[in-house]
Amino acid sequence: MRMRKKPNLDLRMEQCADFLIQNPKEYRGRWRTLKPDAKEVRLELGCGKGRFTAETARQNPQALYIAVERVPDAMIVAMERVRDLGLNNVYFIDGDAAQLRDYFAPDEVDLLYINFCDPWPSSHHARRRLTHENFLVLYRGILREGGEIHFKTDNKPLFEYSLFQFPKAGYELSQVTRNLHECGIQGVMTDYEEKFHSIGTPINRCVGTKLAMDPEPEFKPIPGPDRSRRIPREAEEQDTPKESDKED
Ligand SMILES: C[S@@+](CC[C@H](N)C(=O)[O-])C[C@H]1O[C@@H](n2cnc3c(N)ncnc32)[C@H](O)[C@@H]1O
Repeated sequence: MRMRKKPNLDLRMEQCADFLIQNPKEYRGRWRTLKPDAKEVRLELGCGKGRFTAETARQNPQALYIAVERVPDAMIVAMERVRDLGLNNVYFIDGDAAQLRDYFAPDEVDLLYINFCDPWPSSHHARRRLTHENFLVLYRGILREGGEIHFKTDNKPLFEYSLFQFPKAGYELSQVTRNLHECGIQGVMTDYEEKFHSIGTPINRCVGTKLAMDPEPEFKPIPGPDRSRRIPREAEEQDTPKESDKED
């Protein structure tokens, strides 16, 4: 289902302006100035309506959170949640994950969250998956060595595909589970996670830790966003990534 246009979006954005970073490129290399006592900079890709963002930031006031989301109609809900909780350690970027190297300097990010990203099930669209090798190499350019990517998804084929991609891009896998909440709720749930868990869909999760690589894998720039052709997640045909995707 495509997200409905939110009423009064411009007004609501104005009311949350303190949380929106208008020119993220200007903060490249100096995100910590937003919270000089921050012990870590944590980045969430595709925060959606921000249930996870707001609650995780509330529980970890010592960390600075930056949430990237390319759909303002979703992001405004996340921003209002953060405002209503009175948090001062969360900021938002209305932008695309493909541009992260323009927004963040090398080693600037300690932890990166990818929660329930669009699965792009057709193998023709594999390069758009946020866990495609190219994206994982892109993240190497902003994540410190030993920094982690925490990945969760309800989508089993995407998860199995991603488990092949992480090592190819120089990440060590750990905490791999195909049923995160088997013995009770673990950690903070996202909006999507809550929905899928409530209908009995098992949640997959893994952690990728950035390893040193010499030489660094070549970064192939990812084409910029093309919002006009975006296929909403639920409307996509579900098919299993093919063996060739794993080698992709
Ligand atoms: C399926 S929703 C999941 C939202 C949230 N993470 C959750 O678990 O509830 C995926 C979100 O990622 C956003 N998104 C997808 N690709 C993105 C990209 N390349 N850059 C930034 N946001 C992206 C979408 O707009 C959408 O809000």
